[in-house]
Amino acid sequence: MSYFIGIDSSTTATKALLMDAKGAVVAIGRSEYDFEAPRPLWSEQSPHLWWDATVVAVRRALEQGGVSGEAVAGIGMTGQMHGLVLLDEYGEVLRPAILWNDQRTQAECDEIRERVGAAELIAVTGNDALTGFTAPKILWVRNHEPDVFARVAHVLLPKDYVRFRLTGGYACDRAGGSGTILFDLAARDWSREVVRALDIPEQWLPPTLEGPDVTGTVSQEAAALTGLRPGTPVMGGGGDQAANAVGVGAVKPGVVAMSVGTSGVVFAAADRPVIEPQGRLHAFCHAVPGMWHLMGVMLSAAGSYKWFKDAFAPDLSYDELNDAAARAPAGSGALIFLPYLSGERTPYPDPLARGAFVGLTVRHGLGHMARAVMEGVAFGLRDSVELMAEEMELGEVRVSGGGASSDLWLRIIADVIGLPVRVVGTAESAAHGAAILAAVGAGAFGSVSEACEAAVEVGDVTEPGPDTAIYDEMHAVYRDLYPALRESFHRLSGLDS
Ligand code: XUL
Repeated sequence: MSYFIGIDSSTTATKALLMDAKGAVVAIGRSEYDFEAPRPLWSEQSPHLWWDATVVAVRRALEQGGVSGEAVAGIGMTGQMHGLVLLDEYGEVLRPAILWNDQRTQAECDEIRERVGAAELIAVTGNDALTGFTAPKILWVRNHEPDVFARVAHVLLPKDYVRFRLTGGYACDRAGGSGTILFDLAARDWSREVVRALDIPEQWLPPTLEGPDVTGTVSQEAAALTGLRPGTPVMGGGGDQAANAVGVGAVKPGVVAMSVGTSGVVFAAADRPVIEPQGRLHAFCHAVPGMWHLMGVMLSAAGSYKWFKDAFAPDLSYDELNDAAARAPAGSGALIFLPYLSGERTPYPDPLARGAFVGLTVRHGLGHMARAVMEGVAFGLRDSVELMAEEMELGEVRVSGGGASSDLWLRIIADVIGLPVRVVGTAESAAHGAAILAAVGAGAFGSVSEACEAAVEVGDVTEPGPDTAIYDEMHAVYRDLYPALRESFHRLSGLDS
């Protein structure tokens, strides 16, 4: 029997998922770490953390599974998207990675629109310049850290730094590459036009490959550290959202992968490069060769519920808080929560957006507020679903992430978006997706969709119910609130030191 490993270097932990040749999950090794916020709006992490955690996680997965490294026939890479890793000519890390949730680059986003042309940028890359993306971070280092910039020889994404430490080679998968906004979306490769307009040396950028393609093999040194066999092929994989979509089987046009984790993501697979004309949705390459996707990202989804519980109900369990929320009526007694606790991306790309409860009265208690948080997150997800439905036909919605473990939240999501939803996936769908891509690359399956048919377990359907009508009315109010409060949010940010 041969096995495959998917390695997911996320913001909080590296996970190594060991999968057998039929697609079943055998073991998951984890190793955790923190990220730093050294200044307001900044978010950084040392790339060494990811590599050290990879060594531990792979060893743990092999040990838990009782599998020798010799039996591993391929490794797929995934991880947090958009982060900037800068290396010198010797492959040494030049500064901490600037992460996907870093918000420091507003001026550089303006600079990119100016240099490339705002409309041209969306037409070529599929995306507007947002603070979280990679390209503005490269410009920020040029503008603020010229000494570092002068020594740069390689630009990598987080998962591709781990790939470099595993194989000794530089490479990038196309799903991740398109999240830099240095990509020609339709051509699925670096855009010479954009890269030149931004004066970024082309030789800094690694070659790009599709998700199942072999990008290199495990080096002697990495094999000695991890217990893997030297020469084991390492496949492209994909950014965490694309790999997660593979892990839940969103690999056919219109199938939607919705993830309710710390952030909230709505991801719709497409067989052509679909672009939202104003760039309000992200348009990236899928990890499936020849496929693309549209994506909306909320920065604080299950993260909002965790914040609420930690701040207001630290002594209750999640089950107790969920029960209190379930006792409140649909619409939470006309109370609305805006989930912009960490700023927002979709549909309002605004680092200074803030959260709010709107409509509080003396009749509202903890249960109403907890339910309003769940509903507010669902309203935010609906904003992305509605934008997507304007561009393409949407099919089945497959939900994963911590929020999917609450029946109440699933029901609220189905009612709010007005579509049936299905829970899908393992606890680590992105790592599972990366392992699936490796198995396809090694020839264990004929295609990604064939592999997903075998590997992905699909749960029961929750259909929209009678509360859809009240949620339509509540969502109409919700949609008016951000535009009305935007200026106030910005003034409050100025007062918050
Ligand atoms: C996707 C995104 C996040 C990070 C977090 O655009 O920014 O999903 O990849 O892991």
